[in-house]
Amino acid sequence: MKKIKLGVLVSGRGSNLQAIIDNIEKGALSVEIAVVISDQPDAYALERARKHNIPAVHVSAKGYKGKRDAYDTLLVQELQKRSVDLVCLAGFMRIITPALIKAFPNRIMNIHPAILPAFPGLHVQKKALEHGVKFSGCTVHFVDEGMDTGPIVVQAVVPILDNDTEDGVSERILKQEHKIYSRAIQLFAEGKLRIEGRRVLSSSSDERNSEFMINP
Ligand code: GRF
Repeated sequence: MKKIKLGVLVSGRGSNLQAIIDNIEKGALSVEIAVVISDQPDAYALERARKHNIPAVHVSAKGYKGKRDAYDTLLVQELQKRSVDLVCLAGFMRIITPALIKAFPNRIMNIHPAILPAFPGLHVQKKALEHGVKFSGCTVHFVDEGMDTGPIVVQAVVPILDNDTEDGVSERILKQEHKIYSRAIQLFAEGKLRIEGRRVLSSSSDERNSEFMINP
C-alpha cells in the first residue's frame, strides 16, 4: 500500500517529531515524512530531521509581521511541492490561518498538552497544576480555525500528584504525547477516521481513541 506523506511543522526541540521518526523506523507507524518545516532557523527539530535524512526547511517569518496569511501561503507551497497528505503540528508556535487550513481541510493535526477543551492555549501544564485538577493529559485534534478547538482524535489522561511540579507533570504528559500522536497518525493513514460533527470515530470497533493511565 502506498504510504501517506506527512509534513511536520515545528518550532523547537522536536521530541514529538522524534517519537514519530522512531515509530516509523520501528515499523509501528506506516507513513513517510516528506518534509519538516520550521519557522525558527535554529530549531533542534530541524537537526533531528537531518540526522534521519528527512528534508528540513526553514521558512523565515521575517518581513511577515501582521501578514500571517501570506506566511501560511509559503507553508502551503512547501507542503504541496512535496505532495503532503497530512500536516502535523508538533510544537509549532504560530497561530495558523485559513490560508493553510483551507488548503488541507481535515488534514491538519495538532498535539496539545492538556485534556481539551480544558486548558487551551499556552503554559497549560502550569495552569492545570495551579487549578488543582487531579488529572490532566494530552489531546491530538484536527485543526480548525479556533484556538485548540478542532475535533478530538485521541486523548490520554495522566494523574496529577500532590507533590508534582510543572516539570514533573509536563514530563509525564510528554511521554503520553509521544504515544498518542503516532496512534492518531496511524489511524488516519489507515483511513480509519471518520468525522461526524465534532466527533471523530474510528471505523474499527476494537479501536480505543483514549489512553487512561492509572499509574504515573
Ligand atoms: C508539546 O508539549 C506539545 O504538546 C506542544 O508543544 C510541545 C512540543 O514539544 N504543542 P516538542 O517540540 O515536540 O518536544
